[in-house]
Amino acid sequence: MENGFFITFEGADGSGKTTQLNNIKTFLQEKGFDVVTTFEPGATKTGEKIRNILLHSEDSVADSCEMFLFLADRAQHVEMFIKPALKQGKIVLCDRHTDSTIAYQGYGRGQNVELLKKLNQIAVNGLSPDLTLLFDVSTEIAQDRVGKDKDRMEAAGIEFHKKVRNGYLELLKENPERIKLINANNSIETVYNETKDIILNLVTNKRGKTNA
Ligand code: TMP
Repeated sequence: MENGFFITFEGADGSGKTTQLNNIKTFLQEKGFDVVTTFEPGATKTGEKIRNILLHSEDSVADSCEMFLFLADRAQHVEMFIKPALKQGKIVLCDRHTDSTIAYQGYGRGQNVELLKKLNQIAVNGLSPDLTLLFDVSTEIAQDRVGKDKDRMEAAGIEFHKKVRNGYLELLKENPERIKLINANNSIETVYNETKDIILNLVTNKRGKTNA
C-alpha cells in the first residue's frame, strides 16, 4: 500500500484553494517534507487534452460526456501520477479530486450521485484521500473573484454554482472524519493559518504513528 499522504483541496471556483495549496507546498517543503502538487483535470499528457475539451470546447458538451471525461482524466491521473508518488512516500497535494465530480456533475448538473460515487470508485481503484480540505465561500464572493474571463465550467451560472456549494456541504456532512471545513470568506492569511494547522496535525500524527 501507499506510504505517503494524499491530501485533496476542494471548493468552488474562486475559493482561493489553489493559492493555499501552493503556500502549503512551500511550508511543508521548508519543514523538510517531500511534497508534490498536482491537479484535476489535466495533470497528465492525456489529461491535458481532456481538460482542453472540458474547459474550452466550442461544441456544446453533453452532461454525460462531461462526466465521463472528468472520470477518465481521474483514472489516468491516479494510475500514472498519484499512486506512484504515494508509493515513493511523498505528500501529494491535489487541487480537486472525486468530491468535485460529486459536487459539480452530481449536485450541479443533476447526475445520479450514488452512481457517480460508484464510477469514482472505478476511477480511483482503491485510492482515497487521507484528508480533504473544503474551502467554503459564498457563491457571490467566489463569482466576483473569478472575474469576467470565465472558462466553460465557470460560466455555468450562479444557480449552478450555488448547487455545487450545497453539494460540497452535503459531502461534508457525510464524511466528517475525512473532510475539514475551512471558511474561505476570510483573508488569505487567516485561511492559510487554519489550513496549515490542520495539515500539520495530520502529517505529524500519522508520521508519529508510523514511527512508533
Ligand atoms: P480549475 O482547474 O480551474 O479548478 O478548473 C476545473 C473546473 O472543472 C472547475 O470549474 C471545476 C470543474 N470540475 C468538475 O466539474 N468536475 C470534476 O470532477 C473536476 C475535477 C473539476
